[in-house]
Amino acid sequence: MPANKKLLVLPGDGIGPEVMREVRRVINWMDRRRAVSFDITEDLVGGASIDAHGVPITERALQRALEADAVLFGAVGGPQWNAAGFDKRPELAILRLRGELGLFANLRPAIVYGPLVEASTLKAEVVRGLNLMIVRESTGGIYFGSPRGIETLPDGTRRGINTEVYTTPEIERVARVAFELARKRQSRLCSVEKSNVMESGLLWRQTVQALGDDEYPDVALSHLYADNCAMQLVRNPRQFDVIVTSNLFGDLLSDLASMLTGSLGMLPSATLGQPDATGRRHALYEPIHGSAPDIAGKGVANPLAQILSFAMLLRYSFGMEEDAVLIERACVNVLANGLRTPDIMAPDCAKVGTQVMGEAVERELDKLAA
Ligand code: IPM
Ligand code: MG
Repeated sequence: MPANKKLLVLPGDGIGPEVMREVRRVINWMDRRRAVSFDITEDLVGGASIDAHGVPITERALQRALEADAVLFGAVGGPQWNAAGFDKRPELAILRLRGELGLFANLRPAIVYGPLVEASTLKAEVVRGLNLMIVRESTGGIYFGSPRGIETLPDGTRRGINTEVYTTPEIERVARVAFELARKRQSRLCSVEKSNVMESGLLWRQTVQALGDDEYPDVALSHLYADNCAMQLVRNPRQFDVIVTSNLFGDLLSDLASMLTGSLGMLPSATLGQPDATGRRHALYEPIHGSAPDIAGKGVANPLAQILSFAMLLRYSFGMEEDAVLIERACVNVLANGLRTPDIMAPDCAKVGTQVMGEAVERELDKLAA
């Protein structure tokens, strides 16, 4: 009998634990109905880990992440840890996980689900049917580049330094992920940088173009400057299929893209490492919403992004496309039935909390699998 799939669950802070509870419901359902079992280990990250262990992530948690087949992450951070200091901020948990697991390709879809088209602040005719994917480089660039730091100059003034740096292999491996994804979608890829200002951006453009010419001539490749891309995303977002970009630009553009959908509480993400010789790769899945401390503990958070992150996990880590689609369908059906958490509330819909939403997804799964 094949070994169970090993999952590390890191609920984190704020609404993380409450939305993760609803994923457990889906996992239990799969266990019962689809005979797919997971060995689940749970650990602390972020503020919860700072409180218990004095650090945003322990070596034990990192080790467990390295050993797991996939990591399901909630969210970290909250005002009570703002004073912890720059070296102890809860965000270091996710940055260390990305760095130490080599999770270089951050996949951030922005999908407008039919029943939610009115939730966008943009006109429905601009966003209806939107389905784009941002592939953000996530272990390099200015987030990790050196030199970095704050230094005091001889005249007593201070200087803050960060470095944007990319090598051709770093650009190629993330571009390859994006090209491969584009092939499975509409075969259109837009590469985004600032090659009009930055040498690292010029190298980015040249490298992606050369890879496209050599290995992906069937994918329609275009290039945009990052500022223009931001503008185009608001003007006409449906022109995009897959976007590939650096760590910092991807951070900004993916927040922008998420808001095209009007519902941060709906969007999952995947962060993937390089497959080894056996095809095994480290991977982490998390909703793109943060810990939302303002609504934490009130039972009103939208669990769908966390549940959809689990669907991505099934798809990208375990090749379980059918089960992933089943979960995604169940989520859309719940919306079509008019259930809404407060973040996506609309006229004539029923306002429900986290748990009722999770139970509704489970009921839809039952119906779909019947
Ligand atoms: C994200 C977040 C993180 C980032 C923070 C929490 C470090 O904004 O995942 O987009 O900047 O990468
Ligand atoms: Mg961000």
